[in-house]
Amino acid sequence: MSHNQLDAKSQAWSALFTEPMSELVQRYTASVFFDRRLWKADIQGSLAHAEMLAAQGIISAQDWVDIQRGLQQIAQEIESGTFEWKLALEDVHLNIEARLTQLVGDAGKRLHTGRSRNDQVATDVRLWLRDEIDGLVALLRELQAALVRVADEHVETILPGFTHLQVAQPVSLAHHLLAYVEMLARDEERMLEVRRRVNRLPLGSAALAGTTYPLDRERVARTLGMVDERGEPQLCLNSLDAVSDRDFAIEFTAAAALIMVHISRLSEELIVWMSQNFGFIRIADRFTTGSSIMPQKKNPDVPELARGKTGRVVGHLMALLTLMKGQPLAYNKDNQEDKEPLFDTVDTLRDTLRIFVDMIGGERDPATGQRSGGLTVNRTAMEAAARKGFATATDLADYLVKKGVPFRDAHETVAAAVRVASERGVDLSELPLPELQRFHPAIEADVYDVLSLQGSLAARATVGGTAPVQVRAQLQRHRQRLAGLV
Ligand code: ARG
Repeated sequence: MSHNQLDAKSQAWSALFTEPMSELVQRYTASVFFDRRLWKADIQGSLAHAEMLAAQGIISAQDWVDIQRGLQQIAQEIESGTFEWKLALEDVHLNIEARLTQLVGDAGKRLHTGRSRNDQVATDVRLWLRDEIDGLVALLRELQAALVRVADEHVETILPGFTHLQVAQPVSLAHHLLAYVEMLARDEERMLEVRRRVNRLPLGSAALAGTTYPLDRERVARTLGMVDERGEPQLCLNSLDAVSDRDFAIEFTAAAALIMVHISRLSEELIVWMSQNFGFIRIADRFTTGSSIMPQKKNPDVPELARGKTGRVVGHLMALLTLMKGQPLAYNKDNQEDKEPLFDTVDTLRDTLRIFVDMIGGERDPATGQRSGGLTVNRTAMEAAARKGFATATDLADYLVKKGVPFRDAHETVAAAVRVASERGVDLSELPLPELQRFHPAIEADVYDVLSLQGSLAARATVGGTAPVQVRAQLQRHRQRLAGLV
């Protein structure tokens, strides 16, 4: 197709077409206004393809030189904003190819030998997503590090642990925050697994059935870094599947949705914790907004929006699953609809992670390396809350069991004690010894050790429990995993 013909695509694709596309159909079918963000990957893929075509003697060494020169100039034009994107040229691929031909002539027209936009776009999206995943994994690690830094200072800070949002047993704030570090560590692991399946090469599959040219697909895979840990090239091994598969995008979005769900749960806690009735924490003013009518308000907009944006990422996952479910092999234009959900998932997740790194851990002053303005913790309010709601009732039952009382009887005894304490408006630890002994003769003066919050915490020393000794061991493990960040 000559450059003039490509430019005239708005009129017709080729001699085959007898009428031009309407303006509306052109807009409806074009993707250039969103897929142009793939430009770098598109050029990277084209360079790898052209290099291989030359190495295989399919195009000349001169063609390869011309293609490199042209694509370099195009990259500069796009970066500097002078590149003219044309709706009539439909997508990022045709825009770049047309400009290349304009710049270097016939060599530009040879670039597409043995290639189709079907394997080209699948390659571009994979290359682009691979880089984005690397950035997201780095942010996931930063957020874990921010949580670990706060946790480090609060191994002995006690707050009520909840089940059913009812006071259950005391836990340390460090323990609570490390629960989120566990979630994010799994997210990191999951993203890296997804990355392995993203990092496979469709190029060489051409339109759907492979191609008649002697392509060296492994060479292209190596050039593009699509290799495994041992440096083995990773190819998509069925051409029909290669051009139509979007599992990698779905898997990525599923992993992203789960990260958002984790952040949404954390957001919900931050929102509850900073409400007046809890008063456990404060987040810096720059993450809150006021009310236009109520002068006293500071609203937790950032965590609320994170919770809200989770809905949209979950929606993108549904969109992609639904996009695929009815498609016969191989490529269908439906697949062009994979991009906006995928792009928005990446953007939403990236911004959310960035903002949470600052909100939890504080902003880093690049001059001093010091952080300020992270989460502020009100230990007194947390401890006071842990003293309400009989958080150590289980400890009293366990105490009786250790004195030989069967657990079910102990449970019953403590329930009676809680009822009396509750009627008097006092905690179990505030009932005098003779009073407690009325509930069970096995109770002795050492009972007050287990009724204290500290005693309760220290006693939960099973692996993964809230006892400071266990929490310190977990902190140590995370510090090692996150080497260089904490
Ligand atoms: N813009 C298209 C997409 O995003 C590129 C592939 C077009 N292929 C085709 N046969 N029309 O999927």
